[in-house]
Amino acid sequence: MTIRKLHTVDSTNSYLKDWARKELLENFTTVVTQEQTQGRGQRGNYWHSEKGKNLTFSILIRISDFKASKQFELNQAISLGVLQALKRSIPENIIEKPNLQVKWPNDIMAGDKKIAGILIENTLKQQHIKHSIVGIGLNVNQTHFPSALPYASSLKNLTHKDYELDVLLEKIVRSIKKQCTKLESQESLESEYLNNLYRFGIEASYKDTHNQEFDGSIIGLTPEGKLRMELSNPSLKNTPKIKEFGFKEITFL
Ligand code: BTN
Repeated sequence: MTIRKLHTVDSTNSYLKDWARKELLENFTTVVTQEQTQGRGQRGNYWHSEKGKNLTFSILIRISDFKASKQFELNQAISLGVLQALKRSIPENIIEKPNLQVKWPNDIMAGDKKIAGILIENTLKQQHIKHSIVGIGLNVNQTHFPSALPYASSLKNLTHKDYELDVLLEKIVRSIKKQCTKLESQESLESEYLNNLYRFGIEASYKDTHNQEFDGSIIGLTPEGKLRMELSNPSLKNTPKIKEFGFKEITFL
């Protein structure tokens, strides 16, 4: 397993993407840095991380003969890989075990707090994914977060313990690799994903693209990975009780 360690870089995703353009890299090549100057998050957001305290890294993943239409399965494999590695890294003697879950599509949560985010950038060749750059930001030993991020937390905040970043990184990469092997053997990850899904089957509040607030509960996923929701109080007559939402079509409140 190749792990390149950097001190500072704009973004590990951008760095690894450039590197993969220049060289044929071994599968699961990883780039990790102590500091990013332009860490990128989902929806064009900036990824905040205090220098040297957390894990900010990217992994190159190639799955043979993998159709672009199966993108969400890759997303499930990565999320579950991170989640399982974290569950195994929490010491046994912690009294209040954090409730680690995946928030659709791929945030890692502890209760209602986000501890990790994932940014997957796929390079396509015709109908297939040639490779994916999987960027992961995991809050590990940072204890204070900017007030603009009230829902951010870290492993240390949850368990009052420091973690060795190198050890954790290896565990996560290995765990993701294991989940990707399941993809190659066509094993479905959906039930494991749903079993670990934040707010699955629980009534909660959401907002749609028209800023319309509504209550509903997640009842499943479509084959493309859209969220299937059962609305609690469809306000208008004829509004279907079951609705599907794509990534940018729903906000969790
Ligand atoms: C999110 O918004 O939840 C996704 C955050 C992804 C952040 C990671 S940090 C390492 C990698 N490099 C980046 O620029 N972004 C990802």
